[in-house]
Amino acid sequence: SFIHRFKGLYNIEEEVAKKLGIKKVLVVPGFYDEDKFVLREIGRAVSIYLKSILKNDTVLGITGGQTMAMVAEEMIDEELKLANITVVPARGGLGKDVENQANTIAAKVAKKLRTSYKLLHMPDNISKELFRSLSEDPNIKEVVDYIQKIGILVFGIGRADKMAKRRRLNEEKIEVLRQQGAVAEAFGYYFNKDGEIVQEINTVGVSLNHYKQLKHVIGAAAGIEKAEAIISISKLNKNLTLAIDEGLAKEILK
Ligand code: G3H
Repeated sequence: SFIHRFKGLYNIEEEVAKKLGIKKVLVVPGFYDEDKFVLREIGRAVSIYLKSILKNDTVLGITGGQTMAMVAEEMIDEELKLANITVVPARGGLGKDVENQANTIAAKVAKKLRTSYKLLHMPDNISKELFRSLSEDPNIKEVVDYIQKIGILVFGIGRADKMAKRRRLNEEKIEVLRQQGAVAEAFGYYFNKDGEIVQEINTVGVSLNHYKQLKHVIGAAAGIEKAEAIISISKLNKNLTLAIDEGLAKEILK
């Protein structure tokens, strides 16, 4: 499939990168909407690319979601010839599926790379009061320090409406997001089609300013319904490397 990718999908990768104005696009063959197995290939492509850019003394930030769970699943299982790599969740936890939480995924990635990790014991969508007192906790502070040192971020990109439902926001709040023009969600922020923040989730995590300054950001997504979200997120940082399926790539080019 990699030979196929380089021969047949090279042009489409170039075209999508040009259209989005970003550094690099990795397109895996197939249509996720017809074949869910394609997600595995995206996980693999991210894993290979990540290994090619990892350097000593790096804090690697990881987010949650199905796509990121597959990145961990497909992470190549071998000892790194690198020193001092720490994997951290880039944001507080989300939802009830433990396997799709950033903590779980960060730990799994770290184990595959035989390196260390830190867990963040802070849910999202909490009250301001709880947020403030949890932020005082020394264990949380330690992880927050690591988060601020993230040098490479690997993250999932979602649709705002789908993510709002997953976070179990009520209809009223979902309507507010709709009125604000939210189309995308990534690392705890909701964005409109121009890549402007419309809302932020109440939890600790990588800040948008930090994100914008990162040299290495790797976004992963599958399925044509995410095209608008991808276009939005691509506006935030031109250093983005995007791993997507062929179906989504073609949808972006429409
Ligand atoms: O923030 C966006 C989500 O991480 C996307 O989640 O990969 O489960 O669609 P997903």
